[in-house]
Amino acid sequence: MPRRWRPLPISLLAVPFLFLADQVEAQKLPEENSCLQCHQGLGDPRVMSPAEKFPQDIHGSKGIFCQDCHGGDPASLDPQQAMSRAKKFVGKPRHQAIPALCGKCHSDADYMKRFNPTLRVDQVQEYLTSVHGKRLKQGDQKAATCISCHDVHRIRAIKDQQAWTYPVKVVDTCGRCHGDPKYMAGYKIPTDVVAKYKQSVHYEALTKKGDLSAPTCNVCHGNHGATPPGVGSVANVCGTCHSVPAEFFAKSPHQQAFASMGLAPCVTCHSNHDVVKTGDEMVGTTDKAVCVTCHQADSGGFRQAAAMRASLDGLRESLTRATAVLDQAEHAGMEISQARFELRGASDALLKARAAIHLADAAAIQKLTEEGKQITAVAHAKGLKALEDLLFRHRGLWVSVGIIVLVIVGLVLKIREIDQRRHQERAADRRST
Ligand code: HEC
Ligand code: HEC
Ligand code: HEC
Ligand code: HEC
Ligand code: HEC
Ligand code: HEC
Ligand code: HEC
Ligand code: HEC
Ligand code: HEC
Repeated sequence: MPRRWRPLPISLLAVPFLFLADQVEAQKLPEENSCLQCHQGLGDPRVMSPAEKFPQDIHGSKGIFCQDCHGGDPASLDPQQAMSRAKKFVGKPRHQAIPALCGKCHSDADYMKRFNPTLRVDQVQEYLTSVHGKRLKQGDQKAATCISCHDVHRIRAIKDQQAWTYPVKVVDTCGRCHGDPKYMAGYKIPTDVVAKYKQSVHYEALTKKGDLSAPTCNVCHGNHGATPPGVGSVANVCGTCHSVPAEFFAKSPHQQAFASMGLAPCVTCHSNHDVVKTGDEMVGTTDKAVCVTCHQADSGGFRQAAAMRASLDGLRESLTRATAVLDQAEHAGMEISQARFELRGASDALLKARAAIHLADAAAIQKLTEEGKQITAVAHAKGLKALEDLLFRHRGLWVSVGIIVLVIVGLVLKIREIDQRRHQERAADRRST
C-alpha cells in the first residue's frame, strides 16, 4: 500500500516525549499511539495543541486516548489509514454532538463503575434540563457544552486545584461568557453578574478566607442541571446553607405576602449576586433600612420595624456599658473573668435577635433582647461591685497606713519622753554628787 505522506522518522517523534518527561504532573503516554506521535510533530497549532495538552488530561491517565473520542486506528502511522472513516474516525465533533460524545462513557453506569464506582453518571441527563442544554438543542452555538466548563484535551479531575471547575476558578469559567458583554450580545440577560458576585461576602469568604463552603456560581445554579438537586428553584437555594434565617422566614408573615406578590424569599432583601455583610442598620425606618422600601410610615410593619431596631439598639448599648465597666475593673486589677464569661450570653442573645429579624415579629425580638439585657444587668452589677470592693480596699489601706503612722508618732514621742526623763535623772544624779 503506497504511503503518500510520512511526517517524521519514528526516532524524531520520541523527542517531544523527552520534553514531556520534564513537565510537572505530566503522565507517561504510550509511545506506540500513532495519533499522539504524529500530532505531536505537526506544525499547525490547531492540530498539534491537543497532543501537547493531553499529558495533563485525566483520561490519558485512565488509558483513554485520542481514538476513544475521535475513532480511527491508533496503530497506523499512515494518516489515510489512521484517520479513515472505515475505522470509525469522526474528526472534530460538532458543537451539538459533544454531550452525546462525553455521555457515551459518562452516562454508562456499568462502564464508569469499573473506574470509579462513586462517580455520578447523570451529567448529560441533567445538562439537557439546563438553559445551556435546551439552547444547544435549539442549535445555539454559544451555549455552554461540557468542554466550555471542563476544557478539552486537558480535562482535569474535579479535585484538581487547576481544574476549571475548582471552586475558586469557577467565576472565571462562567465569567468567560457571562462577564463578556460582546459574547452575550443578543441575549437578554445581564452581564454584570460576575462583577456583582465579586463584590459579595461569598466571594470574599471563598477567595480571601479560603472558605470553600462559601458558594460560587455552580453551587447556586447547579453543576449541570438548572438548579442543584433538592432545590425547587435557584431562588430557594440560600436556605440550604442558612437554615436558621430560612426557618424563621417560613414562619413569618412575609412568607405568604412575598409568595402572593411573586417575590423570592431571601434575594428580595439581600439580592442574589452582590450579597453583602449585614448589620442592624438594615432594620428600622432610616434610609439604610430595607423595611422602608415596602412599609410606609404609620403602617403596622413600619411601627414594628422601628420597635425591633429600638430593641436591638437597647441591648447593644447595655452590652457596651457592661463591657466598659468590666474593662475598667479588670484594668484596676480586679478578677472579673466569671462576669465576662456570663456576659457572652448577652452577645449570643444579640446574635439570636438579629437572626430572629426574619420572623418579622417585634415582640419575639423584644423577648430575646430583654433576656440579653438581664444578663448585661447582672454583669454590669458585678463590675460595679468589683469597683466598689476596690474603693473599700483603698479606704482600708489608708486607715491602716494612718494607724501605723499614729503608732510610729506615738513611739517617737514615747522614746523622746524616756530620753528626756533619763537626761533629767542623770542631771539630778550629777547635782547630788
Ligand atoms: C501521520 C500523521 C497523523 C496521524 C497518524 C493521525 N493524524 Fe490526525 N491529523 C493529521 C493532520 C496532518 C491533520 C490535519 C488535517 C487537516 O488540516 O485537514 C489531522 C487532523 C486531525 C483531526 C481534526 C480533524 C478536523 O475535522 O479538523 C483530528 C480530530 C485528528 N486528526 C485525530 C486523529 C486521531 C484520533 C488519530 C489516531 C487514530 C490521528 N489523528 C492520527 C495527522 C495525523
Ligand atoms: C475526551 C474526548 C477527547 C479525547 C480523548 C481527545 N479529543 Fe480531540 N477533541 C475532542 C472534542 C470534544 C473536540 C472538539 C473541540 C471543540 O469543539 O473546540 C476535539 C477536537 C480535536 C481536534 C480539532 C481541534 C480544532 O480546534 O479544530 C483535534 C486535532 C483533536 N481533537 C485531536 C486529538 C488528539 C490528537 C487527541 C489525543 C492526543 C485527542 N484529540 C483526544 C475530544 C477529545
Ligand atoms: C456550566 C458548566 C458545566 C457544564 C456545561 C458541564 N459541567 Fe460537568 N461539572 C461542572 C462543575 C462545576 C462540576 C463540579 C465541580 C465540583 O464538584 O467541584 C462538574 C462535575 C462533572 C463531573 C464529575 C462528577 C460530578 O458529576 O460531580 C463530570 C464527570 C462532569 N462534570 C462531566 C460533564 C459532562 C459529560 C458534561 C456535558 C454533558 C458536563 N460535565 C457539562 C460544570 C459543568
Ligand atoms: C471513552 C470514555 C470516556 C469519554 C468519551 C469521556 N470520558 Fe471523561 N472520564 C472517563 C473515565 C473512565 C474517567 C475517570 C473517572 C475516574 O476514575 O474518576 C473520566 C473522568 C472525567 C472527569 C473527571 C472526573 C473526576 O473523577 O474528577 C471529567 C470532568 C470528565 N471525564 C469529563 C469528560 C468530558 C467533558 C468528556 C467529553 C468531552 C468526556 N469526559 C468523555 C471516560 C470517558
Ligand atoms: C460558552 C459560554 C458559556 C459558559 C462558559 C457558561 N454559560 Fe451560562 N449561558 C450561556 C449562554 C449563551 C446562555 C443563554 C442565555 C439566554 O438564553 O438568554 C446561558 C444561560 C445561562 C443561565 C440561564 C440564564 C437565564 O435566566 O436565561 C444561567 C443561570 C447560566 N447560564 C449560568 C452559568 C453558570 C453558573 C456557568 C458556569 C458554571 C455558565 N453559565 C457558563 C453561555 C455560557
Ligand atoms: C448565592 C447564590 C448565587 C451565586 C453564588 C450566583 N448566583 Fe446567579 N443567580 C442566583 C439567583 C437566586 C438568581 C435569580 C434566579 C431567579 O430569579 O430565578 C440568579 C440569576 C442568575 C442569572 C440570570 C440573570 C437574569 O437576570 O436573568 C445568571 C446568568 C446568573 N445568575 C449567573 C451567575 C454566575 C455566572 C455566577 C458566578 C459569577 C452566579 N450566577 C452566582 C443565585 C446565585
Ligand atoms: C453553599 C452555602 C451557601 C449558600 C448556598 C448561600 N450562602 Fe450565604 N454565606 C455562606 C457562607 C459560608 C457565608 C459566610 C461568609 C463569612 O465568612 O462571613 C455566607 C454569608 C452570607 C451573608 C452575610 C452574613 C453576615 O454575617 O452578615 C448573607 C446575608 C448571606 N450569606 C445571604 C445569602 C443569600 C441571600 C443566599 C442565597 C441567594 C446565600 N447566602 C446562599 C454560605 C452560603
Ligand atoms: C424582609 C427582609 C429580609 C428577608 C426577606 C431576609 N432577610 Fe436576611 N436579614 C435581613 C436583615 C435586616 C438582616 C440584618 C439583621 C441585623 O443585623 O440586625 C438580615 C441578616 C441575615 C443574615 C446574617 C445574620 C444571621 O442570622 O446569620 C443572614 C445569613 C441572612 N439574613 C440570610 C437570609 C436568608 C437565607 C433569607 C431567606 C430565607 C433571608 N435572609 C431573608 C433582612 C431580610
Ligand atoms: C418586599 C417588601 C417588604 C419588605 C422589604 C419588608 N416587608 Fe414586611 N411585609 C411586607 C408585606 C407585603 C407584608 C404583609 C402585609 C402587611 O401586613 O403590611 C409585611 C408584613 C410585615 C409585618 C407584619 C405586619 C403586621 O401588621 O402584622 C411585619 C412586622 C413586617 N412586615 C416587618 C418588616 C421588617 C422589620 C422589615 C425590614 C427588615 C420588612 N418587613 C421588610 C412586605 C415587605
